[in-house]
Formats: sequence, structure tokens, C-alpha cells
Amino acid sequence: MSVLPILIHPDPRLKKRADEIDEITPDLRELADDMLATMYEAPGIGLAAPQVGVMKRILVMDCVKDDEAPPRPMVLLNPVVTETSEDMNTYEEGCLSIPEQYADVERPSEVTVTWTDLDGKEQTEHFTGLWATCVQHEIDHLDGKLFIDYLKPLKRQLITRKMQKLKRERARA
Ligand code: NI
Repeated sequence: MSVLPILIHPDPRLKKRADEIDEITPDLRELADDMLATMYEAPGIGLAAPQVGVMKRILVMDCVKDDEAPPRPMVLLNPVVTETSEDMNTYEEGCLSIPEQYADVERPSEVTVTWTDLDGKEQTEHFTGLWATCVQHEIDHLDGKLFIDYLKPLKRQLITRKMQKLKRERARA
């Protein structure tokens, strides 16, 4: 298992729609393992493949917050939101591709998602709370959408400029 470098916004790969997965290969399993290792190492609660430069519809997440509770690493292939609640919820979101920037984003508070697991089986689950926010945020990544795209243009530009500066600093280091 290896920890992969995470792309930082702005990057054209973070703005593109990722491709459907049509075959579960050993390489894909390895990618899933690496993405989980990368997410836990960051640390984060979700990671989508475009964030590590792979344009495939795969995401990983684990929103278990209680340190005493066992982890619940999840791998979702080709996830699709099939139902959304009318109730909305606002969470202060962040993103591993936009480090140290947080903002309130409103999304449906509950969603039903269907996906394929690593055994090729179709799974469906109803997500609530942080899990619901996280899965929507990660599916957005697969469609080339970032949480800052929900913010007012001025705020989004401010964050983008900060990230450009961070990238310049990192390139120099
Ligand atoms: Ni993100």
C-alpha cells in the first residue's frame, strides 16, 4: 500500500468528469487500497480518484468519528445518488485538495446511493448526517465539482488565489 500525492486546486484534472469503471482489475484494487491509505494518512474522511490524478469513478470514505469505534473503510465504484431528501443540512466542509479552507455548504441531509463494490456486487445504502454530506462531496469530485463551486464567486476566487500561492510555495520548497 502506498500513500499517493494529492492534487491541489486549481488543477484541470479536478474539473473533469471521471470515466465509468467497467472492469475490476488487480490495479483497481490496488488503487482502492492506496486511496484508503492516502485518506487515513492525510487525515481525511473521503477521497475521490481524480484527487490523486486518476480519472475513474471510484471514491473511498470513512466517516466514523468516534476513536473508540471500529473504522468503516468504504470503496464505491460508479456511485449514483438515486434519492435525495427534501430536508437540507449545512456542514462546514473542507477538502484534501483545498487544504485548510473551510466553508458552509448546504446539501440534502439524506441520500440513497447505489454503487458497485470491489466484488462486483451492487450495493445500495441510505446515508444520513456526515456520511450523507461526505458521499455527495466525493461524488461531486467524480463530476469535476468542488465544494467551493457552491460558494459566492468572490469567496471562491479568494480561496483559489490562496491555493495558487500555496502551490507556488510548495513548488519552491
Ligand atoms: Ni474533496
